[in-house]
Amino acid sequence: MRLPIIAGNWKMHMTKDTALSYLKDLKERVKGTDVEVVICPPSTLLNLLKEAAKGTNIKIGAQNMYWEEQGAFTGETSPIMLKDLGIDYCIIGHSERRQYFGETDETVNKKIKAAIKHGIKPIVCVGETLEERKEGKTESLIKKQVAQAFKNIDLEDVKNVVIAYEPIWAIGTGETATPEMANSAIAHIREVVRDIYNEGISEEIRIQYGGSVKPNNIEELMGQDDIDGALVGGASLKADSFSEIVNF
Ligand code: PGA
Repeated sequence: MRLPIIAGNWKMHMTKDTALSYLKDLKERVKGTDVEVVICPPSTLLNLLKEAAKGTNIKIGAQNMYWEEQGAFTGETSPIMLKDLGIDYCIIGHSERRQYFGETDETVNKKIKAAIKHGIKPIVCVGETLEERKEGKTESLIKKQVAQAFKNIDLEDVKNVVIAYEPIWAIGTGETATPEMANSAIAHIREVVRDIYNEGISEEIRIQYGGSVKPNNIEELMGQDDIDGALVGGASLKADSFSEIVNF
């Protein structure tokens, strides 16, 4: 059985006060859940939230990191720095990073390796544009993204990686992939993982869906065989809607 994992990606939202009152509210609402709960705030709030989440079942993730451990890389955050704060997860290769900040399959691969080396669990995002879907390229695109993301990564490290299938056309648009569409893409990702590694790990690895996940569609998404959780943007910004998703 794969443990469901629901992560909130706050993107560039929240300040100290709003983050702390959110966490105080959320921890009461998700206390008894069987789902692994992760909040990914902006880097300015990582330390504060990691401290505030102590003794709760809420894990904290970063939204990005650099692959080098230290050096002259102005503005970047290293895996050692995240580890120093006790950060559990890091989103890697989100489509907004690919689109606006020059993230490529190659940098995604470097970041995954760096995260694994420092004991930070990567949440690796893959997904197609609307154009690619219309051209029937969804499966080949995903295959390429997954194959390049996992290049030279050892089998024993793969179980600590979470994949998030996020069709770009569904992110922040209110348009969700149908549960069947999401499941079929995720089943395809499992096949790609099986072809790279083996059947066992393809059954073990957790794969989330992301893209306009809301309290009113989570149940149907989670009812699909291959979907193990969600990466939630907009609906993670309020503790009540995020907790409804967690407690689907
Ligand atoms: P959304 O974002 O839920 O607002 O569509 C998802 C994401 O970008 O991870």
